[in-house]
Amino acid sequence: MTRHLLRDDDLTPAEQAEVLELAAAIKKDPFGEVLGKPLAGPHTVAMIFDKATLRTQSSFTAGVAELGGQPLLVDGKLAGIGKRESVADVARVLGRQVSQVVWRTYAQADLEVMAAASGVPVINALTDDFHPCQLLADLLTITEHKGPLAGLTATFLGDGACNMGNSWLLAGALAGMHVRISAPAGYVPEQSMFDRAAEIAAGTGGSVAAEPDPVAAVAGADVVITDTWVSMGKEDEAEARRAVFAPYAVTADLVARAAPDAIVMHCLPAYRGYEIAAEVIDGPQSVVWDEAENRRHAQKAVMAWLHERRSR
Ligand code: NVA
Repeated sequence: MTRHLLRDDDLTPAEQAEVLELAAAIKKDPFGEVLGKPLAGPHTVAMIFDKATLRTQSSFTAGVAELGGQPLLVDGKLAGIGKRESVADVARVLGRQVSQVVWRTYAQADLEVMAAASGVPVINALTDDFHPCQLLADLLTITEHKGPLAGLTATFLGDGACNMGNSWLLAGALAGMHVRISAPAGYVPEQSMFDRAAEIAAGTGGSVAAEPDPVAAVAGADVVITDTWVSMGKEDEAEARRAVFAPYAVTADLVARAAPDAIVMHCLPAYRGYEIAAEVIDGPQSVVWDEAENRRHAQKAVMAWLHERRSR
């Protein structure tokens, strides 16, 4: 059966660990002298972006090439996905041309249709609900700075109801981490997301919790994470969001409440002076540039791993 990465829990805990190990190995050998070129042929990987991108487009483009494959940027506007042709018809066509599809879009349901109809592995390059590629890059980054993931405490502050909050719950639980989400009322992940993450955590020794008080939430944390308060598609709400999220800003004072050797993460783009202080993101505890680099290594591991399991 063709496998996909549509949400973080499409991988089991053991599979997540396997992909992260592969990513670490690939990082040491980026041009495949040891691991080989799994996409040699070249196999083509189609990338479609319905929202803005910098890290995702550049890391997938470079990553596909480094695996010996050929990246193909499909212009979503020209293709008219969902307008000129249905998502299912686009999927059927792409599945006959390319070996994998990477899609950044709005609705998770559309991504699921793409996966069901394409016949080739589909990778979520961010939807409104999940950002699993970022989480694999983040987990790889944490292992580099803090060692084994299981048992570490990670606190996510800000818009918990966005893709990053949901993905942190699932991926952190898979890794056996203790995940705390600190968000104002109305911006907490749905209960079903906590329930699913708790179910995973029960098998990995991790835990998940909501802690509305940001000071309590960061107490002793090994990893402090934030994200923009205004996710792509929410621009009209920017002013209201900035008011409600202000107490959740990752300032130097807040980071001082975490473990003394805590690392600070942000998937970028960052808005200094809003969700994170300049002195924090540009300071010694910040690992944001490692995170950005690790997108490429983590996604190469995902593509290689899925390619090995493809059914055609
Ligand atoms: N939550 C952010 C992540 C950006 C990589 C957004 O969806 O815009």
